Amino acid sequence: MSATPHMPVPQSLDGPLPITLPRLAECKRLGERIVMVTAYDYPSAQVAQAAGVDIVLVGDSGTMTVLGYPSTVPVSTDEMLMLAAAVRRGLQTPFLVGDLPFGSYEASDTQAIETAQRFIKEAGCDAVKLERGGTSVQRARAIVDAGIPVMGHVGLTPQTATALGGYKAQGRTADRALTVARDAIALQEAGCFSIVLEAIPAAVTEILMSRLEIPVIGIGAGAATDGQVLVFHDLLGIYDGHAPRFAKRFQDVKAQMVAGVAEYAAEVRAGAFPAPEHSYSIDEDELRRFERELD
Ligand code: KIV
Repeated sequence: MSATPHMPVPQSLDGPLPITLPRLAECKRLGERIVMVTAYDYPSAQVAQAAGVDIVLVGDSGTMTVLGYPSTVPVSTDEMLMLAAAVRRGLQTPFLVGDLPFGSYEASDTQAIETAQRFIKEAGCDAVKLERGGTSVQRARAIVDAGIPVMGHVGLTPQTATALGGYKAQGRTADRALTVARDAIALQEAGCFSIVLEAIPAAVTEILMSRLEIPVIGIGAGAATDGQVLVFHDLLGIYDGHAPRFAKRFQDVKAQMVAGVAEYAAEVRAGAFPAPEHSYSIDEDELRRFERELD
């Protein structure tokens, strides 16, 4: 296993303070909404930093949005670590969470701890996230006991979407809602510092909130949670794969990117780019001498 040290996080003495676990707990206590977004590279991390978000998740959604796989299942730990290390280099203040990829933590507590340690040591993450209740509860407990903060994730868990019947809202019957609730409470009892609720009815979230003492981050789970998370490429309109109903598009950045590249292509073909202001000059005498000597 390689252990590439991550870049130290530059801190400004008069800027905003880094987000910590006590600060996230305080947000919940004071009713201050927590803003979380995904990021997968240096520029998206810099955007999250400049926009003042609280938590950045290097989500395995990056498997689809930036690596082009059809689902989150195929991504390897090494691929996720490369994305996470790039994000780390672009962040100073947000709390950085790395998503443990499918197949990197389920087999045993040892496997889970070893993978989580790589996210902390090699990529500089502050915490890791894992999906599901069931056996993941014990994996979460083991990672927490090893000194690494863990965020849980229940409801629609994309790594096991096939077993859930597809990318569908969860908890829409009393029994299914009870499963989501029991998983969330078990993860809280296992020591998770926070939990993501994905794609469950808003009314179920409202009832569940009274049982959860840790900060709850929602995505497609209504407005009652302590914070919200969206996938960077969904909210900015960069990804054109399937967009779930909760993925509000705040910008249409892909259209702007295509327009920019198309304009560049048109100018190159028309001979309009580069213009004189994009070129370097040389002293006239030097140029003549260059021509003479070349001949
Ligand atoms: O991978 C991801 O982006 C996530 C969020 C949707 C919570 O898990």
